[in-house]
Amino acid sequence: MKRIAVINQKGGVGKTTTTVNLGAALTHHGQRVLLLDLDPQANMTVHVDKRPDLESDTLTNLLIDNAPLDALIQPTSLENLFVVPSDTSLAGVEQVLANRIGRETILRQALDDARLAERFDFVMFDCPPSLGVLSANALVAADYVVIPMQAEYLSLQGMAKLLEVIDLVQRQLNPGLQIACVLPCMLDSRTNLSAEVLHEIESHFGALLTKTRIRNNVKLAEAPSFGRSIFEHAPDSNGARDYAAFALEFLEKIGERQAETPNETPADAEAEADA
Ligand SMILES: Nc1ncnc2c1ncn2[C@@H]1O[C@H](COP(=O)(O)OP(=O)(O)OP(=O)(O)O)[C@@H](O)[C@H]1O
Ligand SMILES: [Mg+2]
Repeated sequence: MKRIAVINQKGGVGKTTTTVNLGAALTHHGQRVLLLDLDPQANMTVHVDKRPDLESDTLTNLLIDNAPLDALIQPTSLENLFVVPSDTSLAGVEQVLANRIGRETILRQALDDARLAERFDFVMFDCPPSLGVLSANALVAADYVVIPMQAEYLSLQGMAKLLEVIDLVQRQLNPGLQIACVLPCMLDSRTNLSAEVLHEIESHFGALLTKTRIRNNVKLAEAPSFGRSIFEHAPDSNGARDYAAFALEFLEKIGERQAETPNETPADAEAEADA
């Protein structure tokens, strides 16, 4: 079971959109995916059509009262996509846990469960736009980090702080943590500024920058209000194409899929299949 934190403390850069649509895209590759909403705004919970209400238990119950994760998992409209919802009560977690020893490792402990590992191939954490206890729990529990970024002026600002926190977590609590990739989101290809900023991001992150660009696409912005992923809402949109491409690149980046060799002829492929 691979654990993925989708994180950037800057608000509105595409974290939730990426978590939901990468998760949905992975199910198309036969993966069983669990989404964890670590944001008190509960945008992801809404995006998968789970209205946050006080009746159902949320991650707050796990983080504060040690409720078993199993009991919090809810199905979504996609067969292999499940969610642990959030609600505004999650905002109180920072304060309640402020003085609790081991507060950063609660999620990791909850995920170290053999039954969960049997049930899911991927667990993805949608992080809030802050670097507090909730994000710390995600980084400590994760194998990989995905950093969505907007290609705009000042978007690299704040990145130093995020990388510092990731480095600290790697050194002190989670040596296995790796940055899988930096994903440019909401790209406006008509402006030179995007190209300039992308160039800057590339010189900063090198191979960590994905080849896939998530373009600005109104269908992506509409999908949450329908409680659906982009693949159900608008399968022929650029948004669906971009996230499908990203899922493939992501699987390659974490070594779960062979990179495609563009020059391979069908005969070569057959010979390989026979081998
Ligand atoms: N590629 C895109 N094209 C158009 N709109 C997009 C795209 N990606 C995301 N959006 C929209 O932009 C807004 C911010 O995206 P999203 O909620 O994914 O960001 P976030 O980083 O999770 O924000 P927050 O920090 O508040 O949690 C949302 O309304 C979303 O629907
Ligand atoms: Mg969000």
